[in-house]
Amino acid sequence: MRWWWLLVAARVAGQACCRSGTTCATCADIAPLCEFGAANATECTSVGYVWCEGVDVPEPSGECCDFVDPDGLCGTFVAEGGYCTYSQKCCEEDCGLSWYKNEGTPTYAPTAAPIAAPTITPMPTATFAPTRLAPVEKWGALRVDGTRIASNATGAPVQLAGVSLYWSNFGWEGEDFYTAGTIASLAQWPGLSVVRAAMGVEDESGYLDLPDYNKRLVEIVVEAAIENGIYVIIDWHSHEAENYPEAAKNFFAEMATAYGGYPNVIFEIYNEPEPLENRTWEVIKAHCEDVLAVIRPISDNLAIVGTRRWGQYPNESAADPVDDVNVAYSVHFYAGWEGHDDIKDAVHEAVELGAPIFASEWGQGCPHIACDLDRNNTESWIGIMDDYQISWVNWVLNDKSDVIDDTLSIFLPGVDPVGPWDDDDADYTDAGKYTKSLIARYAT
Ligand SMILES: *[C@@H]1O[C@H](CO)[C@@H](O)[C@H](O)[C@H]1NC(C)=O
Ligand SMILES: *[C@@H]1O[C@H](CO)[C@@H](O)[C@H](O)[C@H]1NC(C)=O
Ligand SMILES: *[C@@H]1O[C@H](CO)[C@@H](O)[C@H](O)[C@H]1NC(C)=O
Ligand SMILES: *[C@@H]1O[C@H](CO)[C@@H](O)[C@H](O)[C@H]1NC(C)=O
Ligand SMILES: *[C@@H]1O[C@H](CO)[C@@H](O)[C@H](O)[C@H]1NC(C)=O
Repeated sequence: MRWWWLLVAARVAGQACCRSGTTCATCADIAPLCEFGAANATECTSVGYVWCEGVDVPEPSGECCDFVDPDGLCGTFVAEGGYCTYSQKCCEEDCGLSWYKNEGTPTYAPTAAPIAAPTITPMPTATFAPTRLAPVEKWGALRVDGTRIASNATGAPVQLAGVSLYWSNFGWEGEDFYTAGTIASLAQWPGLSVVRAAMGVEDESGYLDLPDYNKRLVEIVVEAAIENGIYVIIDWHSHEAENYPEAAKNFFAEMATAYGGYPNVIFEIYNEPEPLENRTWEVIKAHCEDVLAVIRPISDNLAIVGTRRWGQYPNESAADPVDDVNVAYSVHFYAGWEGHDDIKDAVHEAVELGAPIFASEWGQGCPHIACDLDRNNTESWIGIMDDYQISWVNWVLNDKSDVIDDTLSIFLPGVDPVGPWDDDDADYTDAGKYTKSLIARYAT
């Protein structure tokens, strides 16, 4: 690789200042050129390091980038061989630029083993225990039929029930659950028919920062869902999606091309539009129609469109629907949060207006603050969703126990993300046990 030659060329071959290790032969840490001590023997020994001759100078761990484009990729790498390129410290601390581990991958990308590429089988292969038929084998592709979702092939109404993964963002502690094993274990839950891959977008280390990483996690989940015969929601987990239309269109074009032919796949185009005075339903709708214009030539699959105020106003969307025949409108609610009770009215209104609703995210407690789980209100919501056959996805399949998510995580901290989760009391939180039991009501 070019780094090796540049570094060697930039100093006398084989000479280096060793910062750790007892002998030059076992030097574990050679000072990069721009750091104090590296220049020559005098400087090196003055700071207590060992000056070595005839050692292998390691290649830098990455590259230095002076322009990061909106997709989080390095637009321009610093000219090869320059001072800023010698090490991460030179690049970041001395030059104030960004260090990339590999071309296009920022420094906080995982440095552990690369994510293994899952093998994808051409058509769903059910790996279920023979207690039931895999949902996708049973219903196939989904289409909107009035206010309901139906099997495109048979017209039978379909009400999906399942769970959402946590944000995919690197370092947010949800990513451990984006594994094929997790999805295979989840598919064993009686009644479970859908999983949601919540791909972070604009927040730190989401898709805009780390497109390849986040997309890879989604791919793993989608492919595992296909293999296990369950539906999977590809969720653009953004609060301001219309700010990044090109990124969204590129992503969904790729997803539709790779997976849009599989009946399993549901596209969720805009997670939760955060309220802003100028983020009207018209703005949200126009963005979703732009993205659908990219998806539709490739795939007819069901799409979910986010509704205003974090998914709370499907009634408003129902009055001015998106120009597409296979779209459902999201409703998001948290049963422990008193302020969310009005959302029930919005759902009733939306259904009266003839709109299909999809509860692509809901929780038993509160969003982003600790509160008690409200089982009574949860049952009230489940009753409404069952009356209208609204498909639903519970938040969240994770084991975080911080103040934000302690009432919502399905698993106790430290659970094996891959499963199997055999022991209800040892593996599941109270919320998790209850969610699992709710989903079991849909077992056929
Ligand atoms: C060692 O390098 C430092 C920093 O570049 C320089 O100031 C000093 O003169 C050098 N000493 C010798 C002996 O080359
Ligand atoms: C909407 O308002 C926000 C500030 O609240 C502003 O940053 C943004 O540019 C506005 N967007 C448009 C399209 O006017
Ligand atoms: C439903 O079936 C019709 C007729 O076969 C087909 O044209 C359409 O693309 C299908 N829709 C979906 C969502 O698969
Ligand atoms: C939608 O429902 C909410 C909650 O009941 C209500 O506040 C809002 O005014 C409704 N919007 C429309 C356009 O009907
Ligand atoms: C339970 O929920 C129902 C429906 O929302 C409500 O009418 C009732 O008052 C609730 N009961 C308790 C004890 O909170």
